[in-house]
Amino acid sequence: MHFASENISAATAYKLLSSTILPRPIAFVTSMNSNGEANAAPYSFFNAMGSEPPVVVVGFQPNADGSQKDTPNNIMETREFVVNLVDEPLAAQMNICAATLPADVDEIALAKLETRPSIGVKPPRLKASPVSLECKYFSDTPLPGGGRIIIGEVLHFHLDDKVIASLDPLRIDIDALAPISRLTGSKYGRITDQFEIVRPK
Ligand SMILES: Cc1cc2nc3c(=O)[nH]c(=O)nc-3n(C[C@H](O)[C@H](O)[C@H](O)COP(=O)(O)O)c2cc1C
Repeated sequence: MHFASENISAATAYKLLSSTILPRPIAFVTSMNSNGEANAAPYSFFNAMGSEPPVVVVGFQPNADGSQKDTPNNIMETREFVVNLVDEPLAAQMNICAATLPADVDEIALAKLETRPSIGVKPPRLKASPVSLECKYFSDTPLPGGGRIIIGEVLHFHLDDKVIASLDPLRIDIDALAPISRLTGSKYGRITDQFEIVRPK
């Protein structure tokens, strides 16, 4: 089967992308508007894209009514955000924050999320997250259909001590980190079934 993008709807293209490019890591993004109101929402069109400087990318689709989501609005307004990675204990609260809610609803309070102040940016980080990345806006690319891709430069990495297997050399205990990933629809994945292939020299 073959689909030419010029002959399919945006909804079909979204389905093809989101059901085949998986598992996807989840950025549980905390951001703030210029009034200092905080927001949290999950985004799985997300990944690390470079290390000098360290950068992450997040892809935002518009809401069904064509309006922009609060997270990209906040980032474009204040140029700061925090990517909080998600493990299984955080999944239910993450899901609460995925509801389409008016901009003035505080999802952090609604989902009973505890926060910690960030060091270099105003949006707080989530206490329960095993890894939080404080980011400042690096660049953005608006898409013709109303979406937006935003690249953030990571200023600070916060890691729960339990995920540090050793400091010198730095090794992360991925079983302790245990991130969940987005599959398709409401399905999620765990990293409990791993295998190893050693790369040739
Ligand atoms: C696991 C998960 C991943 C999501 N990934 C994305 C995404 O990559 N891009 C997007 O636009 N919406 C994504 N959503 C939907 C947003 O989280 C949802 O629209 C949310 O209400 C946006 O909140 P905000 O307006 O406060 O930013 C995802 C939802 C879930 C549950």
